[in-house]
Amino acid sequence: MAQITYSRLSHLLRISADNGSVLRRGPEIKNAASCCLQFVRCQRSVDSKALQERQKQVMAKGLPKQKPITGVKQVIVVASGKGGVGKSTTAVNLALGLMANDPSKSVGVLDADVHGPSIPKLMNLKGNPELSDHNLMIPLTNYGIPCMSMGFLVEDVAPIVWRGLMVMSAIEKLLRQVDWGSLDYLVVDMPPGTGDVQLSITQNIPVAGAVIVSTPQDIALLDARRGAEMFKKVHVPVLGLVQNMSVFQCPNCNHQTHIFGSDGARQLADTLGVQFLGDIPLHLNIREMSDRGTPVVISSPDSPEAEAYKKVASVVVQRLEEVNT
Ligand SMILES: Nc1ncnc2c1ncn2[C@@H]1O[C@H](COP(=O)(O)OP(=O)(O)OP(=O)(O)O)[C@@H](O)[C@H]1O
Ligand SMILES: [Mg+2]
Repeated sequence: MAQITYSRLSHLLRISADNGSVLRRGPEIKNAASCCLQFVRCQRSVDSKALQERQKQVMAKGLPKQKPITGVKQVIVVASGKGGVGKSTTAVNLALGLMANDPSKSVGVLDADVHGPSIPKLMNLKGNPELSDHNLMIPLTNYGIPCMSMGFLVEDVAPIVWRGLMVMSAIEKLLRQVDWGSLDYLVVDMPPGTGDVQLSITQNIPVAGAVIVSTPQDIALLDARRGAEMFKKVHVPVLGLVQNMSVFQCPNCNHQTHIFGSDGARQLADTLGVQFLGDIPLHLNIREMSDRGTPVVISSPDSPEAEAYKKVASVVVQRLEEVNT
């Protein structure tokens, strides 16, 4: 059967209409129509394959390539779906705990909460970072931990009203324009939620693992679950869950109260099939020392509270070894 194209078909229809003899030309037109239909079907399948291929190329171009942070061996993100459950407090005490457990390790802290940075206060740091010869920001250091935070770059009380692309570009600066020297672990204090910042970080750099912090109450656990599922989706290993503020011991009578519940995070860890990393008690010392900028692992290193953080730090190291083998 001769190959008949659209233009040939329309030509035939035109001359048939002109001559008023559609019937006379009937068989040829029928033939042409069927050929054309075949041609269109075939063309469509070629087009859709090409389109799919093109879409794949565009998508691949759209996603930033993961590139390690120069000098940093492993990045640990500390996250939770919910705000105010103790991420930042856990992040700094985890970083200090990692170093206390093995002083040969170098640890840094990156404050990824660009809207509400807490690290300057928690680590008692202030001031503008200096620039290196390579025009990179040099982190500010306290207690042997180099730290970088948007809080070093903006006024204390200035509201940081950014969104979308501005947030992503701020995060990229914090990831790429800092001279960390050489670090075994970089602990990243994440903002609450599962949004732009979380995606931006997990897409830009290889993350060794995520530590999810939650209080044992249902409303926090729901968000913690969302957080854990998000990291699984973007292929970041979930190192496990930390249960914060699980028990309050009265300083006068030593009676223990589970203000937010007792075992919610442990149960959630079971449900999600992730490791339970440990319990941190609700303790006045933790809050007071945090507010003073002297984290409990530094100010009361032998207290049960500091021991709890150090225990979490050692389980985190075990988990990193497991997920890396
Ligand atoms: N185990 C604890 N015992 C007592 N106080 C705690 C404990 N953990 C955290 N806090 C206190 O709870 C408050 C919130 O903690 P933190 O800022 O670490 O939470 P966050 O999850 O980082 O909050 P955000 O989502 O706003 O960043 C702080 O005042 C902190 O000192
Ligand atoms: Mg915080």
